Amino acid sequence: MALTDLIDIELAVPNPGELQEFWNRRGLATTGTGRLGTPERASQIRLTESDYRHVSQMRIATETQEDLVQISNSLTALGAQVELGDGWLESIDPLIGHSVRVEVARNAPLEQAPSREVNAPGKMIRQNRRSEAAVSEWTPKPRRLGHVVFGSTDTKASVDYYVNGLGFRISDRLPEVEATFLRCSTDHHNMLILPAPVPCMNHYALELEDFDAVGLRGIEVVKERPDASVYGIGRHVVGSNVFWYLLDPAGGMFEFFADMDQITDDDLWDLEIRREDWDPFTIATYESGTSKMDFFLPADIDDIASGRERAGL
Ligand SMILES: [Fe+2]
Repeated sequence: MALTDLIDIELAVPNPGELQEFWNRRGLATTGTGRLGTPERASQIRLTESDYRHVSQMRIATETQEDLVQISNSLTALGAQVELGDGWLESIDPLIGHSVRVEVARNAPLEQAPSREVNAPGKMIRQNRRSEAAVSEWTPKPRRLGHVVFGSTDTKASVDYYVNGLGFRISDRLPEVEATFLRCSTDHHNMLILPAPVPCMNHYALELEDFDAVGLRGIEVVKERPDASVYGIGRHVVGSNVFWYLLDPAGGMFEFFADMDQITDDDLWDLEIRREDWDPFTIATYESGTSKMDFFLPADIDDIASGRERAGL
């Protein structure tokens, strides 16, 4: 696969300052003007001001200039808008309207999370001390941006643009609800395309170290704002990831996730594991509580619709 990584997203919101402080409290550092990152990856979310909430750009990494030329040709063949430069390519998503920038780049590798001492039947690993997750001695930070999910008014055309134009690969599909999981790295999904009456971002997702880290960071958000939880904590079937969906102060949904399936052998996955016939109700193996409607469609969809109209989209 030519594509190797999701680099970052640019998130346009009416209140970037408030959102920046929210993420600073969650452990992302301000690494430049409106830029949030981790110690290993300085740019994960770039914040900019807009009168409606949307993703304005996503950046993706590929290996070579030749890859860019090939992607440019594929996008042109689809009739998509594309500009090719030295080491970069920029295209406008024809359905949703954001910029997709592909760069010859590589994400910095992540240092392995230190293994925690966890007891289990027959395994006394942590002896004579309490768990750091129980006594608040641990403040895990988001390690990276993992994926972004979009609602499209034409999911077939959107999947065509990302797969046949940009070179994303399909990991799984839920055909009855027109949900397609796409990857541009070893993650099971870096993107999910869902149907929506108005093109929108459904959620963005940050990876934490494990189930406890998702729980500890998620409950902090709920303590700050009791109605912030949308769905979770639980474990998905498709992608296998532990999840907790919450609302940010811009009204956008985000996900803390851990333990997602990693696909290092594309042929093996395509031949033996990928399914394009998932039942539409295959959402979670277990979860605490039912999801709110925001899980499927943002509560501020009318604001997004009028914002898009003002922007001439
Ligand atoms: Fe997600």
